[in-house]
Amino acid sequence: MGLGADRRQSPGREDRMVITGSRPIERRYQTCLAALSPRGQDHVLRWFPELNPAQQAQLLDDIESIPWDLVEPLLESHVRQVPPKVVPANLEPAPVWSRAPGSGQKRLYAEALELGRQMLKEGKVAVLTVAGGQGTRLGFDGPKGEVVVTPSGGLSLFGLFAAMLATARDRYDAPIPWYIMTSPENHERTEAYFQQQQYFGLPPEDICFFAQGMLPAFDFQGRLLLAQKHRLALAPDGHGGTLRALVENEALLDMHDRGIDIISYFQVDNPLVKPFDPLFIGLHAQAGSDMSTKVCAKADDHEKVGNVCLHDGEVVVIEYTDFPDEYATARTPDGRRKFDAGNLAIHLLDTWFVDRIVGQTFQLPFRRAEKAVPFVDEFGSLQMPTTPNAVKLETFIFDALPLADHALVLEVDRAEEFSPVKNATGVDSLEWAQRDQVRRACRWLEAAGVHIPRRPDGEPDCTVVIAPSFALDAEDVRERRSELPSVVEPGGQLYLS
Ligand code: UTP
Repeated sequence: MGLGADRRQSPGREDRMVITGSRPIERRYQTCLAALSPRGQDHVLRWFPELNPAQQAQLLDDIESIPWDLVEPLLESHVRQVPPKVVPANLEPAPVWSRAPGSGQKRLYAEALELGRQMLKEGKVAVLTVAGGQGTRLGFDGPKGEVVVTPSGGLSLFGLFAAMLATARDRYDAPIPWYIMTSPENHERTEAYFQQQQYFGLPPEDICFFAQGMLPAFDFQGRLLLAQKHRLALAPDGHGGTLRALVENEALLDMHDRGIDIISYFQVDNPLVKPFDPLFIGLHAQAGSDMSTKVCAKADDHEKVGNVCLHDGEVVVIEYTDFPDEYATARTPDGRRKFDAGNLAIHLLDTWFVDRIVGQTFQLPFRRAEKAVPFVDEFGSLQMPTTPNAVKLETFIFDALPLADHALVLEVDRAEEFSPVKNATGVDSLEWAQRDQVRRACRWLEAAGVHIPRRPDGEPDCTVVIAPSFALDAEDVRERRSELPSVVEPGGQLYLS
């Protein structure tokens, strides 16, 4: 369903598995065996004789999907060994634009804001949500976008983004298309969810689902794992896989057909995201940036976020795990943190930039992720490890930043734009994301003159939810001042929609 329906490569492995008869199973088996044996990987065919024909075809399908030319060199460098951390010696802080104009920048910012609005009105902007991850830390049974995320009103993450989109489409009177990247694991369920929700009232032809690629997981000796006797253990290839998936599924072509210049990229887990930020869009366009990124000031030296830095004139992101202490703790002469730009995973990408880099012999660097991956052992029993037993290979979207001729970095207030749902409890949990939504809504109301009751620790003593249908930001709330109460009672609930 949706605008990609006629072009979309069918990602459902079950669909692709149908034995068409074009290649007899025996021949496929022999070809797979010939690929596996010299690589010491033919153990995955151990149960083949006892599988039924559909299962046999499915397993062969999985095996045939392995891009050996890509994966094989990584077995030594990333699977059997832990790749050494290579951090450039001469890192500098990335030049960061601030949300508010500095002295002498007022006109530039006003023009950027106007340009961003104009681009939205002219239908030059599309939104892209990446939702292909496995969400293992949250442990929700289903696509993360289905998690009900608002403290009241019952909006799921997808529902919340859909409501933002509906408001933006009205405001800019433009058919802003929504591209949603799934994985073959959650594609059908995601589409079914949208169907069941009747696309949240959005036109289905303006929503395009496309699936990213999968790569096999390997044990620490570099051997393929079976998830079932007839399935390889496969995992999505990381959010860096977005770029190739956009091209391979012809979603990028669809964007070109629609005259889209800018992709507003965000991750499915962040309910505070502002995907239609005219200032960000305008600054990006005005600067001729290929790829732009939002950052926030780090909470502490060792916060678990990527560090947005400059290396030889290129914007790079160094993961916190790789960021040496001398950088993390470095200070400027006036005592501030020198490397203070934390990656928020909110980007703008030019469609032509994506074309350009994917068209080249393009490969984002692979990262090694150690995970606990269930597997069928040599006796045919399913093992459910609780500690990492396998390596997944992933690429990250932010590794495209150094490929940009120009990359703009905009600093925003984390409390306004970022509170991801990653974990079941504690930091970055659903509870935290709901708390942050209420905090933000209360700030917006206070800025509009509404009295918010607060507890001694400063936390709001009320539950306020502002649905995107009511306002997308503090300015919208101010404009609707006449519809607001002057006071929220202690312990009160307010749902503005
Ligand atoms: P995370 O790195 O938080 O991974 O993804 P995750 O899979 O959601 O969760 P864990 O690590 O298993 O707990 C950040 C964003 O990137 C998307 C996710 O859906 C999320 O929006 N993503 C991640 C993909 O779309 N594909 C991937 O292969 C990985």
